[in-house]
Amino acid sequence: MAEQSTLQITGWNVWYGGFHALRNITASIPASQITAIVGPSGCGKSTLLRSLNRLVELEEGARVQGEVLLNGQNIYAPEADVTEIRTRIGLLAQKPFPLPMSIFDNVAYGPRLHGLHRGHLADVVEQRLRQVHLWDEVKDRLKRPAARLSVGQQQRLCLARALAVDPDLLLADESTSALDPHSARAVEDLLEELKNEYTIVIVTHNLGQAERLADYVLFLWLGELIEVGPAERVFGQPTHDLTRSYLERRFG
Ligand SMILES: Nc1ncnc2c1ncn2[C@@H]1O[C@H](COP(=O)(O)OP(=O)(O)O)[C@@H](O)[C@H]1O
Ligand SMILES: [Mg+2]
Repeated sequence: MAEQSTLQITGWNVWYGGFHALRNITASIPASQITAIVGPSGCGKSTLLRSLNRLVELEEGARVQGEVLLNGQNIYAPEADVTEIRTRIGLLAQKPFPLPMSIFDNVAYGPRLHGLHRGHLADVVEQRLRQVHLWDEVKDRLKRPAARLSVGQQQRLCLARALAVDPDLLLADESTSALDPHSARAVEDLLEELKNEYTIVIVTHNLGQAERLADYVLFLWLGELIEVGPAERVFGQPTHDLTRSYLERRFG
């Protein structure tokens, strides 16, 4: 395919102590699409996702080998700036983790760190809260603690916080699994809207969600990349027996 790729993973391996968690993964992740990493529990989905923003190396005993290029730059190069990389890549966790501060300050946190001018902060906060369709719900209580919001609202707030630093890449690890169905759909809809502007990689064990959202799919099994390609093809005509039986078991 001729798609422009923002992310190129080459010969990627991760070990936790003596355990070889990811084995020689090579894949390109297309820009401005949603890529879903799917596979059974423990196959390495989170490990792969956390490899993309260098969070994996914070795990005790973790060792990595291989290359991850973001816009042509190896984020694991010795001279790479880890802090800068992590800010260029937004991560939405499974459970929302609002910072222990107000709604406003949560969204303003990143821009403040980057020295954004005070006068512009209010505009940035409003723009990002509008982008995640939270503005109308919170505009009258921006100074209230973020922790008072519902879990679904908190997850949208965390998304606004991630977007506020204008990331190149947005990662989401089972980010709707702690939400009620209505809030989960709201986050799904947001990801769908955002994919025109951002390259998005999600981990999900919810195949229905993967079918609804994914343009591109990576199927992992016991640390190996078994099948990769456009979602329609992987879900519609899987070429590998493991993919087929995984899909049949979950859909059938
Ligand atoms: N910090 C860690 N230390 C040791 N083993 C780990 C660690 N994190 C994950 N693992 C193991 O690595 C494998 C892949 O884990 P993970 O990436 O979390 O899988 P998934 O997200 O697909 O459920 C599993 O066998 C898991 O037990
Ligand atoms: Mg996981």
